Amino acid sequence: MRPLKSSFGRSWLSQWMLDPSVLYLNHGTVGAPPRRVLEAQQSIRDEIERQPSKFLLRELSAVSTGMPRREAPRLRAAALEVASFVGARGEDLVFVENATTGLNAVLRSFPLREGDEVLVTDHGYGSVVNAAVFHAGERGASVRAAELPPASRGKGAFADAVVSAIGPRTRLLVIDHVTSESALLLPIEEIVPRCRERGVEVAVDGAHAPGAIPLDVSSIGADWYVGNLHKWAYAPRSSAFLWAAPGRQEGLHPPVISWGIGRGWTTEFDWVGTRDPSAYLAAPAAIAFMKELGIDAMRAYNHDLAWEGARLLGAAWGTWPELPESMVGTMATVPLPERLGSSKEDAARLRDALLLEHRIEVQLHAWQRRLWVRISTQIYNELSDVERLAKAITSK
Ligand SMILES: Cc1ncc(COP(=O)(O)O)c(C=O)c1O
Repeated sequence: MRPLKSSFGRSWLSQWMLDPSVLYLNHGTVGAPPRRVLEAQQSIRDEIERQPSKFLLRELSAVSTGMPRREAPRLRAAALEVASFVGARGEDLVFVENATTGLNAVLRSFPLREGDEVLVTDHGYGSVVNAAVFHAGERGASVRAAELPPASRGKGAFADAVVSAIGPRTRLLVIDHVTSESALLLPIEEIVPRCRERGVEVAVDGAHAPGAIPLDVSSIGADWYVGNLHKWAYAPRSSAFLWAAPGRQEGLHPPVISWGIGRGWTTEFDWVGTRDPSAYLAAPAAIAFMKELGIDAMRAYNHDLAWEGARLLGAAWGTWPELPESMVGTMATVPLPERLGSSKEDAARLRDALLLEHRIEVQLHAWQRRLWVRISTQIYNELSDVERLAKAITSK
């Protein structure tokens, strides 16, 4: 096995609030912000509570009371820092609560007409596919899922499968940057231009991308890009961004309409009613923490651990899925031994047993008539954690 570089590992767990008696191989699912970032968020909350109306109604957004201020609204300043982290301009990016909200904004705003089609893939995230079906259904449009090949066929085959699924009525493609259950890095850099050439607009679901893989959003060429900050970019929940290409901001509305309507797209998204903005405002502290760790070193460690971990599990159970390493980020999905079942109930039972009997929290699901486990690897994990998972499964 390739030796894991760097000094990350178990000693870093103390930087997190995570219960040390549970082996956490599930960072990607709902994220886990480091203590340092939670402290930064708390000091923002303290500042809000000293003068709530001043902070929320005068300083937070361009929807403000009193005379205009010279300083940029707080959300715009934070958006600028997040934008430079993901390769975008501040004015092209707004905060949203999560990837689901960002994609709902795109889907509800997209001018679908009766008979149009939205293309998704059979690896698409369930809640996002539901949103596509709902919004398309309201306009008499439909949703179709492109069938993706086995991972062993490599990135090129994935791009071909998506592009060849485009039909005469396809107007919009919603495609994952990193798929959820299968945890595959999709070749969006190849897919996006090929769709645009065919007149199909593209919304990228990058729920798992920021912090996990290098990201240069504006060079992808998509129309919209949504990324969670609360998964791999260490920001507190709930924190995500929606990026829109300069020509694709007009007509784009948040799912909640409020005071900002008609005042430009960033103002509209920056105020969607009274809420706690501290998770967004703490995102720059999360970026600062990643930079202190060394973003490249952190990503390399997390990737190597996911990749070596997947190889270890595949070898232990005799189920190696022939993944190309270039399709693995900081998570990897491996089939479980067939004797452990194939149904949703089998998955739920096994997931409970891992947590309750072995104190291991990991994503486990039923898909294509078998069970799969998805490991998320973060700097507080080590290969011995994956070995523990391998043994727990072998004992079943
Ligand atoms: C690909 C993908 N899209 C969207 C989401 C939804 O993210 P959220 O629950 O933060 O909206 C997830 C969550 O895991 C995901 O994996």
